Amino acid sequence: MKKILLLNGPNLNLLGTREPELYGHTTLADVEAAFQHSAARLGYAAECLQSNWEGALIDKLHEYGQLQRAGLALGCVFNPGAYTHTSVALHDAVKGVPQLPVIECHISNVHAREPFRHHSYLSPAAAGIVIGFGVEGYQIALEALVRKFRA
Ligand code: DQA
Repeated sequence: MKKILLLNGPNLNLLGTREPELYGHTTLADVEAAFQHSAARLGYAAECLQSNWEGALIDKLHEYGQLQRAGLALGCVFNPGAYTHTSVALHDAVKGVPQLPVIECHISNVHAREPFRHHSYLSPAAAGIVIGFGVEGYQIALEALVRKFRA
C-alpha cells in the first residue's frame, strides 16, 4: 500500500486548545485519526508527523521524496504553521523533491488575518493549496492529492 504523509508544523500539536476561535476544538490526534481513516478508504497508508522543529520537517520531506521515487509514496499534505511565512529552507526542501506533490494546507483563512500571514514561502513550491476550511481542509487536501496524482 502506497504511503501518504500528513505533516504538521509548529504549534499544531496544540490544536483543540490553541486559539479555538481560529482553529476549532478538534485535537491533532483527531485530525490524524480521521486522515488515516480516509486515506485507508482511498487505498493508502497515511503516516502523520507533527514537529516544532524545522529540520525534522525537512528531513521527513527528503525521506518522502525518496519513497516517492521508489514508487512507495504518493505525496504529502503539509500545514507548515508559522514556518509558512518565514522559511526559505522549507521552500527549498519542497523544491528539492520535485517528484513529491505537496499540498499546502491552512486551517484558517490566512489572507483574512494579519498582513504578515499573507505571504507564503511554500506556495510557489506547492502542487496545490487548501486554505480556510477549518480542519476539514486536511480531508479536502487528501482527496485532491489522490484525485490529481493517483497513477
Ligand atoms: C496556520 C496559519 C499560520 O499563519 C499559523 O502560524 C499557524 C496555523 C493555519 O493552519 O491556519 O500556525 O498554518
